[in-house]
Amino acid sequence: MEKIIVKKSPALRGSVRISGSKNAALPILAASILGTEDIVLEDVPNLKDVEIMIEVLQKLGCSVKKTDENKVEINSKNLNSYETDYELMNKMRASFLVMGPLLARLGKTKSSLPGGCNIGSRPIDLHLKGFEALGAQIKYEADEISASCDNLKGTVIYLDFPSVGATENIIMAATLAEGETVIENAAKEPEIVDLANFLRKMGAKVSGAGTSTITIRGVKELKGCTHQIIPDRIEAGTFMVAGAISGGDVVVKNVISSHIKPVIAKLIEAGVEVEESDDEIRVKGGGVCPINIKTLPYPGFPTDMQAQFLSFMTTLPGENTAIETVFENRFMHVAELQKMGADISVSDRKAVIQGGKPLKGACVRATDLRAGAALILAGMIAEGETEISDIFHIDRGYENIEEKFRNLGAIIERIQ
Ligand code: EPZ
Repeated sequence: MEKIIVKKSPALRGSVRISGSKNAALPILAASILGTEDIVLEDVPNLKDVEIMIEVLQKLGCSVKKTDENKVEINSKNLNSYETDYELMNKMRASFLVMGPLLARLGKTKSSLPGGCNIGSRPIDLHLKGFEALGAQIKYEADEISASCDNLKGTVIYLDFPSVGATENIIMAATLAEGETVIENAAKEPEIVDLANFLRKMGAKVSGAGTSTITIRGVKELKGCTHQIIPDRIEAGTFMVAGAISGGDVVVKNVISSHIKPVIAKLIEAGVEVEESDDEIRVKGGGVCPINIKTLPYPGFPTDMQAQFLSFMTTLPGENTAIETVFENRFMHVAELQKMGADISVSDRKAVIQGGKPLKGACVRATDLRAGAALILAGMIAEGETEISDIFHIDRGYENIEEKFRNLGAIIERIQ
């Protein structure tokens, strides 16, 4: 089994180029099912999750080929199945994002209940509520769900929670529906704006993405297009924290700073120097005072940065707090950080971190992809050596992670 070994490292210095966004690439790959002409995607991150989504599309009859490490060409003219592969669905929850496009294109879709990260139950009730509102009949057989409808009709859908996946699935289903669909209390993440921009290039009529109210006017068919995936704001945030936790001087390149305002604000509150320029952010020096974070749907503090910030808070003397409001079970990394000597206590959705105490290397386990990144960050400042197992989680969401950290001076290697 592969492991990552991290040793106490010098303050990180240098620059790192951020890859394309995993959470924009996955819905955009799914959306390519909606068209029948050639689609070219650039800056697609080279990740396990992207490989799985490509396999899902190929099993549905789409022709998908990677023309280079970060470029993917798709043509869904010969789409010939509406059933998502059981194995693949279990490997990655985001495979569920093909259901909206399949329903729109073929009038039918069937898949097993989504698997994915173990950060909470992660139901799909809001996705199904949207499909039903558009006229689909939903059927549950054992652990399979199917939705069918010959012609989807536009309607108004209110989302009880601004779910990212549900917003994306409903937008995609509505692009070929009859009439107008309005999604209220929609998620506002930048990845949804990127999906909407991609769909508009294909000829879809989508407006309001990035706000709580998104309007889609159905069209007959969608064309091909070329699209460059936006940079990954969570990878950018992870490397910004790497600079801050080590008290170094790190320049993160290929980043849209307006997508990561909460992370910039919290680093500055901790006393870290942050310089923004057009597509770069420079992080200098460590933090000196404790901070409080509360994760919220965009534009609030991203839940995908919570684990990384817990590692960072161990360096901030005094009492830090983190409240996790998006997922009901996203503190699995606390037990691992406690093995390294972190003084963290959790009650319900709130973690309290007494910072300023040194960490020591330990054998730890990645419990989800962001927790894995948080353990690398902690390992860089802990005395001695940290051995991280279950690193398949990390490879789902970070491209060449140890190479990027090593180029900044971290002492990190992958062993069998
Ligand atoms: C997306 O997951 C991201 N994944 C997650 O990133 C991210 O943490 C999450 O959004 C929140 O920002 C991708 O984009 C592939 P949600 P998603 O639907 O769509 C509840 C990472 O680290 N909910 O916004 O699954 C759900 O239980 C991953 O890259 C319902 O109740 O997130 C959760 O508590 C981890 N019913 C909350 O909403 C539903 O039908 C947020 O889920 C759907 C969701």
